[in-house]
Amino acid sequence: MRMKICVLGSGYVGLVTGTCFAEMGHEVYCVDIDPKKINLINNATSPIFEPGLDELLKNNIEKGRLKALLAEDFYSKKIQTDISFICVPTPSNEDGSIDLKFIEKASEDLGRYIKSLENYHVVTIKSTVVPGTTGDIARPILEKYSGKKAGQDFGLCMNPEFLREGSAIEDFLNTDKIVIGAIDKKSGDLLEKIYEPWDEKVHRIKTNLRTAEMIKYAQNAFLATKISFINEIANICQRNGVDANEVAYAIGLDRRINPRFLRFGVGYGGSCFPKDVKALIAASEKSGYIPRLLKAAEEVNKQQPIEALKMAGGLNGKTISILGLAFKPNTDDIREAPSIKLIHELKKHDTKIKAYDPQATENMKKILPNITYTDSPLECIKDSDVCFVLTGWKEIKQLEPKDFLNLMKTPIVVDGRRVFDPEKMKQLGFTYKAIGYGLT
Ligand SMILES: NC(=O)c1ccc[n+]([C@@H]2O[C@H](COP(=O)([O-])OP(=O)(O)OC[C@H]3O[C@@H](n4cnc5c(N)ncnc54)[C@H](O)[C@@H]3O)[C@@H](O)[C@H]2O)c1
Repeated sequence: MRMKICVLGSGYVGLVTGTCFAEMGHEVYCVDIDPKKINLINNATSPIFEPGLDELLKNNIEKGRLKALLAEDFYSKKIQTDISFICVPTPSNEDGSIDLKFIEKASEDLGRYIKSLENYHVVTIKSTVVPGTTGDIARPILEKYSGKKAGQDFGLCMNPEFLREGSAIEDFLNTDKIVIGAIDKKSGDLLEKIYEPWDEKVHRIKTNLRTAEMIKYAQNAFLATKISFINEIANICQRNGVDANEVAYAIGLDRRINPRFLRFGVGYGGSCFPKDVKALIAASEKSGYIPRLLKAAEEVNKQQPIEALKMAGGLNGKTISILGLAFKPNTDDIREAPSIKLIHELKKHDTKIKAYDPQATENMKKILPNITYTDSPLECIKDSDVCFVLTGWKEIKQLEPKDFLNLMKTPIVVDGRRVFDPEKMKQLGFTYKAIGYGLT
């Protein structure tokens, strides 16, 4: 069944959601408050780097299934839609708790919008929000500004998103599960219809609003904890003459553990894990429970870039090259990237910093304008004393040990992502250090 959908927020989640629903045959309006994003999208250019997104955008714009509109234009045109997805940011407050100002504003906008709708419309929150947000925060705002009642005049759902940046399209179209939290059966059934084109083998979990909200946090908290766990093991391995790579590989073969998210390094980053772990800790404490394990996971993560820094030895007067700025390969997202923490630490010393990333440079320039950015990894490492490898991009993995030896001044390579083979690097006789590599 072809439905009319509006997606509020055309960032990583909103744009991928809108484009993939259009690809499934629905009629989609991608709405945002940023006019630059709207122009780019209507010209079939994604404002974010996400493999495959440009092609999919172009296809759906050409077929007339996707259109981007500035929020004020969308509301003034009074376009009728069946369902809306709120995909606005949910950043952290200074104390780590969730900042709901964008959710509140979007709920107010949508409340006014549904006031004038004649059809039954389902509002769906897709942003990651702490338990209680959809029912206790968004609902009263929607009701206030629409003059209508949720569960009677309009529907209300919470539908968390599990995509990963860098493989967002693939994740969205081939998801393991669809979680539908709903205020009532009618809302949930309508939302489920949107997902009809997905294989029937994909698990549909229909539940209440709070449980849907919590599933997303529990999943991210688990994955972040898994990364901090293996980082801690890697730190222990390193100090005990053990190669953590072999340990991670072996334990990952156990089906109860599995190999995913067992890659140690300079820590997790991105727009989700750091803020979601913090928000869950804050929500938990507010409800009277101190989540010790989550606090430890966060603490280990904060320390990982420092672990890499410690390996480099003396830094004063040195030229430092940084290979990789994005928090992981295949994305231009630098939010909470370990590279930022490391660069801030380096700046406390008398260092000259050069950095390379194939996609994230422009984003990084906005927050760290005073370091040197290079166009290639070779240019970056040239004449540097210490090189930190922070993201496992293909372009970085392709470097040869001899490149470091030939181009660097005093080659000390600190591999924060175990991108290179330690044995090969060491054969050339220069200083190669890696998190989790404790063999001498
Ligand atoms: N990025 C991810 O990998 C990911 C994955 C799963 C869930 N999430 C969650 O999804 C939500 C959105 O994350 P994101 O990474 O897409 O954020 P983003 O910052 O990339 O995009 C959000 C967009 O919302 C727009 N916006 C803000 N207020 C608006 C309003 N009132 N009306 C219309 N547009 C508005 C902004 O201009 C921006 O373009 C967050 O809650 C995040 O935690 C993100």
